[in-house]
Amino acid sequence: MRKGRFITFEGGEGAGKSTQIRRLAAALRDRVREVVVTREPGGTPLAEKLRSVILAGKARDFGAMGEALLFSAARIDHIDRVIRPALARGAFVLCDRFADSTRAYQGARGGAEDNMLATLERVTLAGVQPDLTFILDIAPEAGMARAGRRRGQEAADRFEAEDLSFHAQLREKFLEIADAEPERCRVIDAARAEDEVAAALWSACLEKWPSLGSERKQWA
Ligand code: TYD
Repeated sequence: MRKGRFITFEGGEGAGKSTQIRRLAAALRDRVREVVVTREPGGTPLAEKLRSVILAGKARDFGAMGEALLFSAARIDHIDRVIRPALARGAFVLCDRFADSTRAYQGARGGAEDNMLATLERVTLAGVQPDLTFILDIAPEAGMARAGRRRGQEAADRFEAEDLSFHAQLREKFLEIADAEPERCRVIDAARAEDEVAAALWSACLEKWPSLGSERKQWA
């Protein structure tokens, strides 16, 4: 029986996901027994290996659908070994990117067809759906500038290296997902100050699970 809660964080490059995940995890740790923070692609040794292959651009020649299959292979391992067991223990699982990234990135700019990606997603997730998805929304110019500053001298990875029009399409894709699934998704304006974004995330969690606000550790 699934008892935990599954929160995913999505958005383009440089939206500040990692910082916000850290902050939300800290806020939740005061109130719930177990919080698991993880990321995609990755989260298990096997999935981390696939991560380095994909982000180095070594799978690019497979095309968008081939990359989607690799992200999905990594996701299946991650779900089986980390996410599903954590949810079964009653943990709050916070995941940096998940299936919506495949819909957006592998579906952008004439990539894989939406219906193929939807079929692949159904098979991959096997019923493990996020309860809440934050889409951290920022103009691609601002996001890419932030990502560039964060990266410093390091080379851009496979997707950071795509041009502005690709990143503009990603933003549209994420906003379309949010429109199509308003129950699950919350679009968060990520161009604001870090504290404001953190407050917006926390109030969305309280709205979704009001009892989080009442007593400490009451979810234990
Ligand atoms: P990461 O360094 O984690 O990027 P970010 O800090 O922006 O989250 O690298 C993950 C990259 O992989 C990112 O560019 C998005 C891309 N990606 C996909 O294209 N499809 C996917 O299914 C996932 C999970 C990520």
